[in-house]
Amino acid sequence: MNAIASIRSAPGLESYLERLEARLESAVLSHPGVVGEVGRETLAAGGKRLRPALVYLACPPGLREGERAQAAGAAVELVHMATLVHDDMLDGADLRRGRPTAWALHGERTAKAAGDYLLARAFGELARNGDPDAVRLLADASLALARGEALQRRQAFRPDTSVDEYLERCLLKTGKLFEAACLLGGGRPELGEFGLALGVAFQIADDILDCTGDFDTTGKAPGVDLRDGTPTLPLILAARSDRRVRDALAGESVADALERVSATDALERSRELALEYADRARGALDGEPDRDLLEALTHVVVDREH
Ligand code: IPE
Ligand code: IPE
Ligand code: MG
Ligand code: MG
Repeated sequence: MNAIASIRSAPGLESYLERLEARLESAVLSHPGVVGEVGRETLAAGGKRLRPALVYLACPPGLREGERAQAAGAAVELVHMATLVHDDMLDGADLRRGRPTAWALHGERTAKAAGDYLLARAFGELARNGDPDAVRLLADASLALARGEALQRRQAFRPDTSVDEYLERCLLKTGKLFEAACLLGGGRPELGEFGLALGVAFQIADDILDCTGDFDTTGKAPGVDLRDGTPTLPLILAARSDRRVRDALAGESVADALERVSATDALERSRELALEYADRARGALDGEPDRDLLEALTHVVVDREH
């Protein structure tokens, strides 16, 4: 399922995303050489374009066709692309969006440079409009992302990572960019709360999919988090009740660790927490013009299969 298929019905969203695609292409292709090449591959691999859709839905209808909404959508998606290129290198992930990742194809140095390039392009999009508040907002979100990834390094192979520490990481590495997408949309500032909670729900769902999904559906190899010793919510909870999962999360090789995770109640409990965050996101909505669609999104992020 395309995660945004159910909200595609928003008037104008389809054409906004089409224009976004063209804009992303011209931003990424404007540089010759290998970083542009990696950028082109990353772009061609697609993705759900969830964050730009969020910019659009959070934007007051009268402003959706404007330049600022386009620039904001392109900028958040470029930051997202940049972080994925870097994240796959840090996570040692070989596959994304059904294809080999940038570092797997081109090596770590090129992937690092390409991620930096995409990040620079992101800020270039916002800077074009001379809006320092927008630049500051995205800079804060990018810093949070980097802090979230750094926190993840520190938490690696620590099965005793607490749920609060895990949630802090999700907030930083995923929630803040969702928040920025909502705020750059330019609607009520309270929508930032919606984005934060939605992002955490989204990340918990991603962490469940890392345990239960398969490559054909998610486009990513399952079990990467466990292999990397990344204490995600389902793994933290499963490790509390199964010693072997705990060993696996601490770095031991345990052949049936993922099956063991599924045999505990950790996946259901994780889903419950994701649903709680989705509920919290809904609680931040109040009379938005597209409230129905934003609400639909809170269901989609938890129930998605990829
Ligand atoms: C993946 O994000 C990274 C996480 C925050 C879990 P998406 O699932 O939105 O990635 P694409 O863009 O659709 O591939
Ligand atoms: C999300 O975490 C990555 C960022 C927010 C940068 P993951 O490492 O779980 O994302 P995937 O699973 O690789 O897409
Ligand atoms: Mg990853
Ligand atoms: Mg993941």
